Amino acid sequence: MTVFLMRPFVLLPSAHCRALCGQPRLRRLPGSGPAAAGSVPCPGFPEPREEAPFVCSATIAFLCLFLLRGGGGAAGPRAGLGASARGGCRCCVPQFPCPEGGPWAPAPSWAGRGRPQCGSCPGGSPGSATPATGVPQAAGTAQPPAMEATASLLDAAAVGDLVMLDPLSEEALLRTLQERFSREEIYTYIGEVVISVNPYKPLPIYTPEKVEEYHDCNFFAVKPHIYAIADDAYCSLRDRDQDQCILITGESGAGKTEASKLVMSYVAAVSSKGEEVDKVKEQLLQSNPVLEAFGNAKTIRNDNSSRFGKYMDVEFDFKGDPLGGVISNYLLEKSRIVHHVKGERNFHIFYQLLAGGSAQLLQKLKLRPDCSHYGYLNREKSVLPGMDDAANFRAMQDAMAIIGFTPAEVTALLEVTAVVLKLGNVELSSCFQASGMEASSIAEPQELQEISQLVGLDPSTLEQALCSRTVKVRDESVLTALSVSQGYYCRDALAKNIYSRLFDWLVDRINTSIRVKPGEQRKVMGVLDIYGFEIFQDNGFEQFIINYCNEKLQQIFILMTLKEEQEEYVREGIQWTPVEFFDNSIICDLIENSKVGILAMLDEECLRPGTVNEDTFITKLNQIFASHKHYESKETLNAKHVTDISLPLRCFRIHHYAGKVTYNVTGFIEKNNDLLFRDLSQAMWAAQHTLLRSLFPEGDPQRPSLKLPPTTGSQFKASVATLMKNLYTKNPNYIRCIKPNDTKTAMLFTPDLVLAQVRYLGLMENVRVRRAGYAFRQLYQPFLKRYKMLSSRTWPHWMGNDREGTEVLLAELQFPPEELAYGHTKIFIRSPQTLFDLEKRRQQRVAELATLIQATFRGWRCRKQYQQMRKSQILISAWFRGHAQRNRYKQMKRSVLLLQAYARGWKSRRLLRELKVQRRRHLAASTISAYWKGYQTRRMYRRYFRSNARMRLSNFIYRRMVQKYLIGLRNNLPPMAVLDRTWPPAPYKFLSDANQELKGIFYLWKCKKYREQLSPQQRAVLQAKLCASELFKDKKALYAHSLQQPFRGEYLGLTQNRKYQKLQAVAKDKLVMAEAVQKVNRANGKKVPRLLLLTTEHLVLADPKAAQPKLVLSLSDIRGASVSRFSDGLLALHLKETSAAGGKGDLLLVSPHLIELVTRLHQTLMDATAQALPLSIVDQYAGPRAWPTWAFPEGAWAGGGVATAQGVSGRAGWNRAAHWAG
Ligand SMILES: Nc1ncnc2c1ncn2[C@@H]1O[C@H](COP(=O)(O)OP(=O)(O)OP(=O)(O)O)[C@@H](O)[C@H]1O
Ligand SMILES: [Mg+2]
Repeated sequence: MTVFLMRPFVLLPSAHCRALCGQPRLRRLPGSGPAAAGSVPCPGFPEPREEAPFVCSATIAFLCLFLLRGGGGAAGPRAGLGASARGGCRCCVPQFPCPEGGPWAPAPSWAGRGRPQCGSCPGGSPGSATPATGVPQAAGTAQPPAMEATASLLDAAAVGDLVMLDPLSEEALLRTLQERFSREEIYTYIGEVVISVNPYKPLPIYTPEKVEEYHDCNFFAVKPHIYAIADDAYCSLRDRDQDQCILITGESGAGKTEASKLVMSYVAAVSSKGEEVDKVKEQLLQSNPVLEAFGNAKTIRNDNSSRFGKYMDVEFDFKGDPLGGVISNYLLEKSRIVHHVKGERNFHIFYQLLAGGSAQLLQKLKLRPDCSHYGYLNREKSVLPGMDDAANFRAMQDAMAIIGFTPAEVTALLEVTAVVLKLGNVELSSCFQASGMEASSIAEPQELQEISQLVGLDPSTLEQALCSRTVKVRDESVLTALSVSQGYYCRDALAKNIYSRLFDWLVDRINTSIRVKPGEQRKVMGVLDIYGFEIFQDNGFEQFIINYCNEKLQQIFILMTLKEEQEEYVREGIQWTPVEFFDNSIICDLIENSKVGILAMLDEECLRPGTVNEDTFITKLNQIFASHKHYESKETLNAKHVTDISLPLRCFRIHHYAGKVTYNVTGFIEKNNDLLFRDLSQAMWAAQHTLLRSLFPEGDPQRPSLKLPPTTGSQFKASVATLMKNLYTKNPNYIRCIKPNDTKTAMLFTPDLVLAQVRYLGLMENVRVRRAGYAFRQLYQPFLKRYKMLSSRTWPHWMGNDREGTEVLLAELQFPPEELAYGHTKIFIRSPQTLFDLEKRRQQRVAELATLIQATFRGWRCRKQYQQMRKSQILISAWFRGHAQRNRYKQMKRSVLLLQAYARGWKSRRLLRELKVQRRRHLAASTISAYWKGYQTRRMYRRYFRSNARMRLSNFIYRRMVQKYLIGLRNNLPPMAVLDRTWPPAPYKFLSDANQELKGIFYLWKCKKYREQLSPQQRAVLQAKLCASELFKDKKALYAHSLQQPFRGEYLGLTQNRKYQKLQAVAKDKLVMAEAVQKVNRANGKKVPRLLLLTTEHLVLADPKAAQPKLVLSLSDIRGASVSRFSDGLLALHLKETSAAGGKGDLLLVSPHLIELVTRLHQTLMDATAQALPLSIVDQYAGPRAWPTWAFPEGAWAGGGVATAQGVSGRAGWNRAAHWAG
C-alpha cells in the first residue's frame, strides 16, 4: 500500500480482482521500473488490455490520489519530526494487503522501526522473533516478526538503530558501531539519522540491485543504508512536496563527499528516465569530477579532500524528475595554491593537467609535463597510489563537455590554470635603487614572458605590477618599489586570487548549464558536503573558519533534533523528563557575534587605522573573552594561574563542540583582509585574455572603487547565514560520517578516534532524546484529515474541533492509552507500531474508498458509454430509416413513372390509330366531295358558262398579268438617285408603252422628290447649272470642265479683303458674281488684269491694284456675248453702240469661270430685263472694227455656233455671227 500511496500510477489494487480472488490486481505502467516484488499478475484475472484500462486506471488512480491527498501531502506520517514510518506489511511489501489474506497483527510493543507484519506471511508469525534488546516494551504485546532487516535492527550485539541500545552508554554505542563495522555494516541509524563509518574500501553495497532493493522501500524495514535515507528524502520530496536537505557532516576523510555522491547517484537512478532527464542527471553528476579536480587536493587526512564547501540544490519537477540545480561554494582553501605541507598536494588539476594533457596542449599552455619543475607543486613528483591523474584529467574533460563547456572555454580555463602554475616559477632578484632602498626585479624573464604571451599582456606591465606598487599620497600616485619578499607576496597573492576567482567562475559556469529555467514549479533537495571539523597541529585562519561552519551545522542539528524536540514537548504540555545536551550556541556566538564576536574583532582590526597586527588582535580577544567558558589563551590561563604548555603565545583556544582547538593567529589579518594590490588587478584587467580579464572587474580604471571589499570572515559569515536560512526551510536528513582511523586503512576501527567523534557529534544525546520521546506527532487538523475515514463518526465530516475529533477517532480505534498523548496542538504517538496500525487501517479504508470510487466511476463511465451508444444507435437508426425510406420512395417513383410511361404510350398509340383512321376518312370524304363538286361545277359550266367563257378567261388572265407586273414593279423599284435611269424592262410586250410611261412618271416623281429636299441656295446653284447646260451643253468644249466646278459666284473675297472696300460699296447687296478676269487690250491685244463685279444692275471692271472701278456697265448696255466653241475662257461682250462704254467697242475678257460668268450674266439679264442674253458660240470671231485682226487668228473660232437664250441655232447662227463680225 505504500506503493499505492506513493506511486499511485504504478500499482493499483483492482476491485475486480479483489472480488475474484481477494488478491490485489497489480498493474505496472510502462517505464515504471522493474516489477516490484509480488507484482505478478493475478491468476484469477486476465491480463488487462493496454489502452483503455490504462487510462481508466490512471484516472481512477488519480481520483484515489486526490482523495488520499486530502490527508496526505505534508500531513503524512513523516510530516512531523522524524516520524518516517510508512505503513504496510513488510513481508509482502509492496503488495497490499497480504497476498495470503492474513490479518495484520499489530505488535504494539515493538520498538523498532520495521514495518508491522501480518501473521500469515512465511516467517512472519507474530512473536516469532524475540527482541534481544532491553528496550522497554508494553506488557502483553507481541514481538515484531523476524526478518533480515529487522533482525539487523534488533541484533543485540549490533543493533541497526541505536535507539534500541541496551544499556545506553558510550561504550555500548561504540561497541555496537565497531561490531557492525566488523560485519561490514557501515551504516547505523539513530531514528532517522544515518551514521556512516568510512570503510576505506569498496563494499558491494552500491549495486543496481541494491538501488532496486531500496527503491520505494520502507525506511525501517530494510537494513540501514545511505540509500534508505536518500530514498526517504526523495519520496518525501516527490510525494509530499516537502523540500529536503541532506546534511552530511563529519571530519575530513570521514566520507562526506562519497556519501553526497552516493545520494546523488541514487536519486538519479530511481528518478524516471528520458532523454532530457538523463541529460540533466548526467550534467548534475558530472559537475563532481570537474569541481573535485579544481577544488580537491590530497591532504594528510584524505587523498581526495574537498578544499571548499559545497551545497548543491537539486531541483525536481512535480513528478520528481530532476530539472537542474544550483551549486554554492564556500571558502576555497586558496593558500594551498602557494603552499602545502610535505606529504600533501596542491589542487588535483595541476597534476592532472601535467600528467594527462597532450603534448600539443602542454606546448600550447607552455607547460612541461613534469611536476618537479613547478615551485607551487613543491618541486616534487607527486604520484598518488590508486589515483590516475591522467585518467582523471580525461574524465574531467569529458565531464566538462557533458556539462556544456565549449572547447574555447575549456582552453581558456586551462590557460588561466597554467598561468597560476607558472606564476610560482616567477623568480625575483634583489637590487637597490639610487636612494639605497631595496627593490626587486624579475630574475629570469622567460617564465614571465610566457605568462604574458598566454594571457596577451605586455611583460613589462606584469613585471611592474609584481615588483612595484602605486601608493596614493594625498592626490598623487607614487610608484614605490617592492622588496623581494614583498614581490613574492604579491606574486602569491595574485596566484591565489586568480585561482580562487577562477574556481568561482567555474562554479558559476556549471550553474549556468544546470540552472533551471525560472517559472517552473520545483521541489528542492539540497545536499551539503562541507569540509569537516579540523584539528591540526597548527591551526590557522582556514581551520577557524571551517570549524565555525561546522559549529553552525551542529547548531542546526541541535536545534532541529534535540532542542526543538524537547521544547516541543514542553510547549505542548506533554509530560517529559528533559535530556541534558550541549547547546553550542554559546560557541557560535563567541565567533559570530556581530559586536563582540571573534570575527567582528578581526574585522575591526583589519579596518582599524594605524599599526595592525595579530598581537593587537589577540590582546583584544584576551580582554574581551577573559572570562568566556569556551575561550582560552596563554594570557587568560595565566590570569587564572593555570599553566598550559600546550598553548603557546599568539594562540587562542576554543572549546568547540567537537573538542578544543588551538588557533595560531599568525596570518589571520592578512587572510581576512585578502587584499590584492590594485596594480595587480589592473594588470590582469589589461590582459587580452577574456576569461582572465573578466575575473578582475575591479581592475578597470574606468570603474575605480574606493570601497574596501568585504573581509573573508564577514563574507563567509554571511554565506553561512544564508546557508542556514536555506537549510531551516527544508526538511533535514542527517548523515553523520565517522572516520574510523587516521591512516586511511581499510576496515580498521580505532575506538578512541571514533569515540571522540561520537562525542562531538552528540550521538548519545541524540539517542537519548529519540528513546524518551514519542515517535510521531502531528497537528490535530492534518492528523484528523488523514485518518478521519477510520471512524464513521468523523467520516466524512467532523463538525467539532480537531482535537475532539482526534480523540473520538482514536478512542474508537481502541489504542492503549500509554501509546497516545494529547498535546495542545498536536497528537503524540509513542511507538511506530501504533502509527503503522493507523496507516494500515487507513490504507484498508482507502482501498475500500478507492473501490467505491472505482465502482462509481465505472458505473458513471458505463452509463455515459451506454448513453452515448444509445444516442449513437438512435442517430444511426434514424439515418438508416431515412435512407431506407428514401430508397423505397425512389424505387416507387421509378415504378410509377414506368407504369405511367407504359399507360401513356398505350393511350397515345390508340389515339394515333384513331386519328389515322379519322384522317383517312377525312381524306376520303374530301376526295369524294372534290369529285362531287368537280362533277357539279362541270355540270354547271356546261350548263351556264360555256358561251362567253373565252372572253371572261382572257380578261381574267390579262388582269392577272397586269396585276403581277405592277406588284413586281412595286417590289423592284429602281434606286431613288436622280442620275440613276435604270428601269426594269416590261415582262410582256403589250406592257412596254405603259412601262415607258411609268418610267417617265417615276423619273419625274424622283426629280420632284429630289427638288423638294433641296435648299434655296442649292436650288439656285442647280438652276444656274441648268441654265449653263442649256447655254453650253454640246456647244462649248469648256462646259464639260465646268461640270465639276461648283458655281461659287464670289471669288475675290470682297468682304474679307479690306482693300476691296470701295468695290464692296459698289456691289452693295446686289452682287451676283465677282472674279478676277483679264481684259484684252484692244490696241495691242495684251491682257490686263481686272476685277469683274456682276451685280443685278451693273457689270463693273475694276483695277485690281487700286480696287477702283474702271468701267461700269449697265446691264442694259450689253447687247450680246460671244464665246468660242473651244475650251478657252474668252468672252466677247458686245455693247450697245449707244452706250457710253460701247463707243470704244466690245469688251474682250478672259475669265477663269467663263461658263458661270456667262450663265449668271444671262440669268441676271433675264431677271433685270426679262430678256435673254444673245449668246453666240462661234468658231471664229472677227471682232469690231477697232480690233486688230492679230487678236483673233483666223479660223480660231471656226466651226462655232451661235446660241441665244431662246435656243441653239446650230449652223444657222454661224452666218449671223459672221454678219455680226462684219
Ligand atoms: N562508502 C565508502 N566506501 C568506501 N570507501 C569510502 C566510502 N566513503 C569514503 N570512502 C573513502 O574515504 C575517502 C575519503 O572520503 P571523502 O573524500 O568522501 O571524505 P570527506 O569527508 O569528503 O573529506 P573532506 O572533508 O576532506 O573532503 C574516499 O576517497 C574513499 O576512498
Ligand atoms: Mg570531501
